[in-house]
Amino acid sequence: MTAPLFQPITLDGLTFPNRIAIAPMCQYSADDGSATDWHLQQWMSYAMSGAGMVTVEMTDVERRGRISHGCLGLYSDHNEQAAKRALDAAKAVACPGTKFGTQLAHAGRKASNQKPWEGGGPLKPDQDPWPVVSASAIAYDTGWQVPHALTDEDIVRLVEKFGDSARRAERVGFDFIELHAAHGYLIFQFLSPLSNQRTDRWGGPLENRMRFAVEIARAVKKAAPGLMLGARLSVKEWVDGGFDVDEAIEVAKALKAEGVAYICASSGGNQPHQKLPSGPGYQVHLAEAIRKGADIPTRAVGLITTPEQANAVVADGRADMVALARAFLADPRWGWRAAAVFGEKIEATPQLLRSVTTMQHWMKPAAG
Ligand SMILES: Cc1cc2nc3c(=O)[nH]c(=O)nc-3n(C[C@H](O)[C@H](O)[C@H](O)COP(=O)(O)O)c2cc1C
Repeated sequence: MTAPLFQPITLDGLTFPNRIAIAPMCQYSADDGSATDWHLQQWMSYAMSGAGMVTVEMTDVERRGRISHGCLGLYSDHNEQAAKRALDAAKAVACPGTKFGTQLAHAGRKASNQKPWEGGGPLKPDQDPWPVVSASAIAYDTGWQVPHALTDEDIVRLVEKFGDSARRAERVGFDFIELHAAHGYLIFQFLSPLSNQRTDRWGGPLENRMRFAVEIARAVKKAAPGLMLGARLSVKEWVDGGFDVDEAIEVAKALKAEGVAYICASSGGNQPHQKLPSGPGYQVHLAEAIRKGADIPTRAVGLITTPEQANAVVADGRADMVALARAFLADPRWGWRAAAVFGEKIEATPQLLRSVTTMQHWMKPAAG
């Protein structure tokens, strides 16, 4: 029998050859939102990784929504052309059946930051910072900018911008879109009762706090009806009084009603003092809770590193797919290695096939 990790899955009509996903990873290497040669090689590498689902990276719907000067965007014609160049190249060499998605986002109050390798904090006055926005005028942390609280009109315009970027994503040739409603970025800033203290139709009860996410899902679905739509959600904020699993289940149900086909269950990122218990598979129980509570396919993520661990998550029915981030940076052929472990085959480009015997050799227990 095919190992569960290698069984195909169809989400809203889009079939993935296996349950392995590359989790979105910012590369901080874009030029005013446009993909560069770095993205070209990175997406080509992802294309040959053996992962059936490639979610490239947080891609912002407007310039001020970028985390850093190096973040990817889909807000200009040049962004669109540059993304198309990289994606065309990746598709040309991809393992058959590999599907590519973009993760549409806005960093909100966590925008205007340095790249991680430059420190990662707010941009300094001589680093060309820009004013940031959020649901309420509450800074992420001491020393961070106090954001401008978006007006009703601003919010409606931002929802349209998600739709505009979705249209661009379809023209670029992506197969699916993932909404970034996790890690304390703008959609999550609206979901959390701690960062959203509005008293209008966008704040207060959950129904109002999730209106931004729901309206974005509706706008994106309308703008790019041909693309499968998923969402990544921080299911838990890991602080007292924060957004938590019960509310996340309701959000997942509401997004499902808008045509969202999967939830990638992540957590945290909205509070500097969060108590996040990191460890192997630390968020798998969150994917399980959403899968059961909202009856929607889920993707588990977070320190899933070995093929056996990944296969067990799917085999035990805890999630429908697994996403790995750092493991694919460490081993760009992780999918092939997993296939070798379970005696499965990745449909691969023939130029690389002679690596398989070497991989099998690596996997033999050391003699003596
Ligand atoms: C370099 C890097 C960049 C990341 N960028 C994003 C991103 O663009 N969007 C996102 O939702 N998560 C992002 N993440 C989080 C990962 O997608 C993932 O959820 C997290 O690293 C845990 O998975 P892992 O243990 O397999 O690395 C990033 C992580 C890393 C290491």
